[in-house]
Amino acid sequence: MVQFNLPKNSKVLKGSYFKDTTGSKNIKKINIYRWNPDKNENPKIDTFEVDITKCGNKVLDILNKIKNEIDPSLTYRRSCAHGVCGSCAMNVDGINTLSCMKSHKDINGDINIYPLPHLKVIKDLVADLSTLYRQYESIEPWLKIKEIKSKKIEINQSKQNRKKLDGLYECIMCACCSTSCPSYWWNGEKYLGPAVLLQAYRWIIDSRDEERKERLKVVGDKLKLYGCHTIMNCTNSCPKGLNPAKAISSLKKMLAKN
Ligand code: SF4
Ligand code: SF4
Ligand code: FES
Repeated sequence: MVQFNLPKNSKVLKGSYFKDTTGSKNIKKINIYRWNPDKNENPKIDTFEVDITKCGNKVLDILNKIKNEIDPSLTYRRSCAHGVCGSCAMNVDGINTLSCMKSHKDINGDINIYPLPHLKVIKDLVADLSTLYRQYESIEPWLKIKEIKSKKIEINQSKQNRKKLDGLYECIMCACCSTSCPSYWWNGEKYLGPAVLLQAYRWIIDSRDEERKERLKVVGDKLKLYGCHTIMNCTNSCPKGLNPAKAISSLKKMLAKN
C-alpha cells in the first residue's frame, strides 16, 4: 500500500473571522485558503462575511471586494476578468474553474475557495504552475515550417482544415483540467497532462505545420502520453467546455496508425 508522509505544517487550521460591518441582510460566508510563505505558520482557512448586494455576480468580484474592502493582503491571480487569460483558475466549491466566469449565485450556502489542487502553493490562492509551463514549452507550441520561402508569404489553410482546430484553439491554458486529473496529480513530472496534450494535438493537426511526425514522436512516449487512463475529470472540469480527453484519445489513435 502507498504511504504518504505529510510535512509537519500540512494541517490546515481555522483562521480569522471577518464579520460583516455593513449590517446587510444579504450576507454570504466565504471561506478562503490562506498561506503566507513569509510567516512560519500552517495554512489556514479565513472566513469573510461579504455583503453580496453590493458585489458583481462572479466569484472573482467577491475576491476583489474582499481585497479592496476587507483584507488587502489576500493574494490571487487575475487579469482579463473575461475568461480569456486563464490566470484566475482556482478551486471553487470543490471544482476547478475560472473565478471570473463562475457565478456565486449558483452556489448555495458558504463558498469555499482553494488554490488549484496538487500543486505547490506560492501564496494564498496562487499555485505554482512552473512545471506545467515547462511541459508546455517542451511541445513547442508554435507553427513550424521547414523552409520560409519568402517573408511575405501567407500560409493558407482551407476552411475544412481550419475547422479541425475548433475545440482546441480556444484553450487558454488555465490548467483546470490538468490539476483535476488523478494521473497528473501522482505523476505530474513525467505525464504531460490534459492541457499540454490538448495543445500538442492542436499543433499536430494544424495543416500548416510541417513537423507532424517529429511532434508525434515527442509525445508518443509511455510516460508523457499513456499516463492517461481516460478518467475524464479533465473534460468535466474545463471551464471553456473543451474536451482534452478526446484530444488525448485522438493522439493515441494517430500513433497507433503510424
Ligand atoms: S483544456 Fe480547458 S481546462 Fe484545460 S487548460 Fe485548456 S481551457 Fe483550461
Ligand atoms: S481522461 Fe486522461 S487526462 Fe483526462 S482526467 Fe482522465 S487520466 Fe487525466
Ligand atoms: S481573469 Fe482572465 S480568465 Fe479569469
